[in-house]
Amino acid sequence: MPNSATKPQIAVIVGSNRRESINRKLACALAKLGTDKFDANFARIDDLPMFNQDLEANLPGEAVRFKDEITRADGVLIVTPEHDRSMPAVLKNAIDWGARPFGKSVWPGKPGFITGTSGGAIGTALAQQHLRSVMLGLGMVLMGGEAYITFKPNLIDEEGNIADESVQKFLQGFVDRFAALVGKLSAKG
Ligand SMILES: Cc1cc2nc3c(=O)[nH]c(=O)nc-3n(C[C@H](O)[C@H](O)[C@H](O)COP(=O)(O)O)c2cc1C
Repeated sequence: MPNSATKPQIAVIVGSNRRESINRKLACALAKLGTDKFDANFARIDDLPMFNQDLEANLPGEAVRFKDEITRADGVLIVTPEHDRSMPAVLKNAIDWGARPFGKSVWPGKPGFITGTSGGAIGTALAQQHLRSVMLGLGMVLMGGEAYITFKPNLIDEEGNIADESVQKFLQGFVDRFAALVGKLSAKG
């Protein structure tokens, strides 16, 4: 098992600003599945101001903090809801801050794993598809595979673990592959 000095550092972005976000619960459960392999650090996005190009010359403190968190990370896990068949505005706003000013984007070359959950049958598939297209355009190195999770009330237990054994195994596979990818690209792990 890698020690904490050599463990990859993963920035976790939850694409929701809702207090009881089911995607935050899923993100916490994923962090637990990866606890032996990486350190998960949640990057806040709900306090970022609305992106405005007029502010690029003098970035707001929250945007500087967010960009630093992503820059320091060896990889990025994005767990997102679907809003109107796309990604939520709060997530797109964070992505825009990360991408600007031109030439100072934090995204190129960053390994990424995208997943998400909703009560709907297709479990955020369209939001993830849009997000994938945006992040590939920004130069992220995205892990392949499709992790669309339909949320059920008993999916995550009181301790924050994935209670459904088949979903847990399915997601453990993604977490392990992501840790391996980040380990390879960062020479950690
Ligand atoms: C503005 C809005 C649009 C939504 N659109 C979708 C959608 O397109 N597909 C879907 O499966 N759920 C949709 N939902 C329901 C969300 O999946 C649900 O609110 C979920 O709890 C959001 O995740 P969160 O709890 O992590 O914020 C929408 C919810 C809102 C508020």
